[in-house]
Amino acid sequence: MCGIVGYVGSDKALPILIEGMRQLEYRGYDSAGVAVAEGGSLTVVRRAGELTKLEQALDGNGMEGTLGIGHTRWATHGPPTDGNAHPHRDCTGNIAVVHNGIIENHEALRAALQAEGHELSSETDTEVVAHLLEGAVAQRPRPLLDAVIEVIAMLEGAFGLVCIHAEQPDSIIAVRKDSPIIVGVPDGSGIVASGIPALLPHTRDVIPLDNRQVAEIKAGSVSLFDFDGEPAEPRVVHVEWDISAAEKGGYEDFMLKEIFEQPEAVRNAMRGRVDLSGRILLDEVSWDADVLNDITKIVVVACGTSYHSGMAAKHAIEHYTRIPVELDLASEFRYRDPVLDDRSLVIGIAQSGETADTLAAVRFAKDMGAKVVAVTNVVGSSITRDADAVLFTHCGPEIGVAATKTFLGQLVALNLFALYLAQERGAMAEEKVAETIAAMHELPAQIEEVLALHDDIQRAAKSLSDVSDVLFIGRGVGMAVAMEGALKLKEISYIHAEGYAAGELKHGAIALIEEGVPVVAVMTGPSLYEKMMANVQEVRARGADTILIAPRGDERAKALATELFEIPLTKPLLTPILDTIPLQLLAYYAAKERGLSPDKPRNLAKSVTVE
Ligand code: M6R
Repeated sequence: MCGIVGYVGSDKALPILIEGMRQLEYRGYDSAGVAVAEGGSLTVVRRAGELTKLEQALDGNGMEGTLGIGHTRWATHGPPTDGNAHPHRDCTGNIAVVHNGIIENHEALRAALQAEGHELSSETDTEVVAHLLEGAVAQRPRPLLDAVIEVIAMLEGAFGLVCIHAEQPDSIIAVRKDSPIIVGVPDGSGIVASGIPALLPHTRDVIPLDNRQVAEIKAGSVSLFDFDGEPAEPRVVHVEWDISAAEKGGYEDFMLKEIFEQPEAVRNAMRGRVDLSGRILLDEVSWDADVLNDITKIVVVACGTSYHSGMAAKHAIEHYTRIPVELDLASEFRYRDPVLDDRSLVIGIAQSGETADTLAAVRFAKDMGAKVVAVTNVVGSSITRDADAVLFTHCGPEIGVAATKTFLGQLVALNLFALYLAQERGAMAEEKVAETIAAMHELPAQIEEVLALHDDIQRAAKSLSDVSDVLFIGRGVGMAVAMEGALKLKEISYIHAEGYAAGELKHGAIALIEEGVPVVAVMTGPSLYEKMMANVQEVRARGADTILIAPRGDERAKALATELFEIPLTKPLLTPILDTIPLQLLAYYAAKERGLSPDKPRNLAKSVTVE
């Protein structure tokens, strides 16, 4: 996620902005920039890369102004370049804007602005806001506050916005819509940021804007308004946390924070990709119908957790489209002499976009003439350059080494892609697509329900802390969940775990079962439920402790469970999006119980850039 900082007061703005941006660095970013007002004009400096690059560019710049805004950008629209970094300005260069979130209707707004003669210089969605403000301010001229209230009515999507005008140097205007904005007014100054850590060096009394609020921040005061311009009362919150706790938003670890961010991650992965009638709009894969209809087979290549989302995607794509799908570990793919041609579509999945094996697999596939779609969370990453089309998961940066919210983002993006292919090829009736999309819209609320089980899961994790082996079993898409659950447990708790197809137990692994061996069974899939029941009975008869992930209200599962986690009902192919969450939490709490640091497991890295 990007970071926003703004300052107005009597001190030099620049050092305060840089310090605030440093406090927000932990959120991840790939470019940074500042705008400072002085003598009726703005100086803007922006750089791709680390904050130190920006600081080098600012060295000796001598900005003295006492009003400014800064931003650390995590690229979503347009790669991380100097020109796409925030702040963005209007044609006059007097208005500067920084933004977190996504302006969904930016393309239509951009076209209208260009038709009016505005010159936009970046590929971002944000820049349209600066140009819309230019028009709104020029009308009379009038205060930036009024112009902002007029402009936000034209915007769709999620936006935390902070704007300044060089000719109105006594105020900053900030807006919160589905993206946090926090204000502080310490010692005759005004400071605004997207995260509490940036405010803590200045004040512990902060004013978090409510959703759909606008703030006019001046030195020593703040006035709040709703989107209609009606005044609102500020709510002051005293922050007790220290900075490191604030970075984690009050969670003990980034992994836990990221697990709890999953409702939002799923919303973001769907945002702007579905219309009101439930039709899927995937502009990213805007290939001609001929190209889409021509695909004769799909190959999915990925590693680790991404491989598991690919496993679930294979089921979805084959079911919805009837196109045959092969699934390969990226590290194996090019060594097996695969059969590919120009009618093959290869899907490369990598949250980081930098995994060496996945990049090599994708390049190999391209050389053989296949089309490539990349699924990744990182704009500007290497895989985006090698692919013909990219589906971003839009989860925001994931700091914990263990992939959690990006896994759910991948599942959502891949399900949407599968449905899109079915829709465009006429393999699925429109109502059926819309019905599945309606079920997907329910997922964020259902994820909240699953997250509410965290206390029970923490208690269950205690019993895992001193075991040496855990078996995870599932069938169908449940097998992908079982494998992901086992990977999570082993990578952060260092407990040996195996993810297994439940039907394979009797061919060997059942020999491992004895009194007290924990077996986690994923049994929400209705069509394979009876078969899973039989497998659970088999392991229980041999003394296993059973941890069951079962549909809510399932009395039969209750009777067989040592621990039971009940999951809300959804469409069978969407069950991994809910079933994985208890297993993430189980792994997290088991690691904590063993005194380990879940964010930085030994021997592992967030991006695996070597083969
Ligand atoms: O960036 P990628 O998705 O390609 O990463 C692949 C694996 O290295 C990654 O999923 C790894 O298994 C995670 N640490 C799992 O939590």
